[in-house]
Amino acid sequence: MVQYYFLGRGAISNLQDLLNNKKAGAKDAFVVMVIDHYFENKNILDLSYLSAEDLIIYAETDEEPKTSYVDKLVDLARSKGRLPVAVVGIGGGSAMDIAKAISVLLTNEGPSENYQGWDLVKNPAIYKIGVPTIAGTGAEFTRTAVLTGPTKKLGINSDQSVFDQIILDANLLTTVPKEQFLYTAMDCYVHNAESLLGRINDSMTIALAEKSTKMIEEIFLGEMDLEKLLVASGMGGLAVANSAVGICHPLSYGLSIELGLRHGYAICIAFNQLEEYYPQVKTFKEILKKYEIVLPKIITDDITDEQLDRMAEATLKNENPLSNAFGPDWKNIFSKAKVIELLKKM
Ligand SMILES: [Fe+2]
Repeated sequence: MVQYYFLGRGAISNLQDLLNNKKAGAKDAFVVMVIDHYFENKNILDLSYLSAEDLIIYAETDEEPKTSYVDKLVDLARSKGRLPVAVVGIGGGSAMDIAKAISVLLTNEGPSENYQGWDLVKNPAIYKIGVPTIAGTGAEFTRTAVLTGPTKKLGINSDQSVFDQIILDANLLTTVPKEQFLYTAMDCYVHNAESLLGRINDSMTIALAEKSTKMIEEIFLGEMDLEKLLVASGMGGLAVANSAVGICHPLSYGLSIELGLRHGYAICIAFNQLEEYYPQVKTFKEILKKYEIVLPKIITDDITDEQLDRMAEATLKNENPLSNAFGPDWKNIFSKAKVIELLKKM
């Protein structure tokens, strides 16, 4: 779990002190700031306290982070010839995951794809701070940094990829477009549903996921409250980090890898067709209706059988989530034909 957080409107003002404390006493200390490129040339973030030594990376986030991109950024940070005292990730899931990955890779040799998997990181990472500017990914709370490599989309899952400190500031959420805002929040709603209906959970993750679900329903069917949403997102992140996802995420990975759909969007496209597994789909549809969002049909006649097959293969690679959802016998329950049948509805 993340040990320290600041929560509240204006909480971002704590970042300056946190970084100055890390730099204190070292003449050539520097920090790496990974900031979603959306914030470039916009007067939203105050970075006036940074020095010329600090490295600001406006990260490309139009695509989800690739291992090759992360490796390039690590080389850039290494070109300073010394290690930074902190790595900060400001943005959505992608920017935060890039920051997590950089902090791990700066102290662990080799390309990032070597660390895609579970507990492959040997050396302690650089101190890191996460600042979400969209709510729902859970990236600020989890130990995964999801990267798309040459052969697989898989996280660096390690105790070293957990933020040391996070800053939850509702003022930073106000810039997100409506659709993206909703898709990302629904990612959290889906994490909760998958966690609750899986086999890998305990009283703690159930309590967190139930409360997070209730809060999201109150927020989206009742009154919008951004701070409450950040908390719901965090609780959902904690729940899923200590349990597992289920059927929706594997299907969404198939859509994302083959068609390049962004995570939250792919999750919504998939979840919309999973009513037979998750009762929460009904409420999800009510929320879409209230926000006047109509999800398009993604799997059209233009999609070839080969593409569908690759999507199904990518889905069925996710052994852990699928056995969480269906039990150890999942391969006999969730067949490739069933996956393709579901994909065709999306
Ligand atoms: Fe997700």
